[in-house]
Amino acid sequence: MDQSTKSRLASRMQLLKGEGAIETFAKAKNLELQGRKIIHLEIGEPDFVTPDHIVAAGVEALQQGRTRYTPAPGITELRKAIATEVMRSRGIAVSIENVVVVPGAKFILMLTLLALIEPGDEVIIPDPGYPAYSSVVALLGAKPIALPLYEELEFHFDEAELRAAISPRTRMIIINSPQNPTGGVLNKSDLEVVAELAKENDIWVLSDEVYRHIIFDDKFQSISSLPGMQDRTIILDAFSKSYSMTGWRLGYVICAEDLAEAITRLIINSTSCSADFSQYAGIAALTGSQDQVFAMAESFHRRRDLVVSSLNTIPNWKCNTPAGAFYAFPNIKGSGLSSQQMSDYLLDHADIALLPGNGFGANGEGYLRISYATSEPNLRQAMQRIDKAIRSL
Ligand SMILES: Cc1ncc(COP(=O)(O)O)c(C=O)c1O
Repeated sequence: MDQSTKSRLASRMQLLKGEGAIETFAKAKNLELQGRKIIHLEIGEPDFVTPDHIVAAGVEALQQGRTRYTPAPGITELRKAIATEVMRSRGIAVSIENVVVVPGAKFILMLTLLALIEPGDEVIIPDPGYPAYSSVVALLGAKPIALPLYEELEFHFDEAELRAAISPRTRMIIINSPQNPTGGVLNKSDLEVVAELAKENDIWVLSDEVYRHIIFDDKFQSISSLPGMQDRTIILDAFSKSYSMTGWRLGYVICAEDLAEAITRLIINSTSCSADFSQYAGIAALTGSQDQVFAMAESFHRRRDLVVSSLNTIPNWKCNTPAGAFYAFPNIKGSGLSSQQMSDYLLDHADIALLPGNGFGANGEGYLRISYATSEPNLRQAMQRIDKAIRSL
């Protein structure tokens, strides 16, 4: 971009970063155009098709003319289905006034922060963590405060460090469990610590629960169900990962009524609503058979075992066992290469696209993010290629 173009943009645009996954995907696609056979382990998207009954509901909705604007917070039938599902899965009382349907979980982040965060506020975010958290916090003139997650603690945080991170300017803590990029899952005592500090210091908790169905050994727990937490928790959830519906752009936020009303006003002034037919597909997703959701989670479980056991045989790499989501986060510090050098090396020499861990925060340096949302044959081949490339380093 030349200087004259750059200067035409608002200064806040300098605060907004791109996303490593999208950039690496574009680079890998370029190599494919040159005839290279890249295995994609960089994109955080289930490789399954959207289950048939959900697609059928979407198609039927289109045929019935569900192609119009809808009410800004979503159609009532979908909001009711979401409220029922959230009451069942989190054990909290939810009415449709607490539910706002949004085009994807990512946009909820922007809307919620716009509604709650003042310039100069501090927001505690996991590091490594989903890159949009720090980008959007910074865009709004607020300060992201990194809370390190430690491999030795199975990518949980240290309680003393969370306490120390809180200041009079702290307005929100963002948690994400199961987590992108580490696959870590917070346990009840972690959630209790966050809850206690949030209540003590009058802090909001944004709980990103988009991977809640993809959890292997534990049962999913939401901080919203701890005593006194519902009113200060914002649950961010979506159909994207659970139902393999990333392109339908359908998510929802569960929060206190005053915040839901503010988010609705932001929707009125931005997207107007979520896609009409997608919302009907969402009803089918929530009210229809959940068999495929469980089958997908089981498949991720098998792939996790395959990937983690292979990664642990690669010289100078070690990988702990992720408890959820569909990412492995191997430690490559023993290789002597940085995260970026290693991911460039593997793309150039093994035709493997994956992400450097430092794109998820400073504490991700020395790690790689491997998405195992691809078939087992692909994963086997990818593991062999990586192994071979590392042995000839
Ligand atoms: C932690 C986390 N939150 C939110 C999202 C965004 O989800 P959606 O596709 O529904 O916008 C993602 C997508 O990768 C994610 O990893």
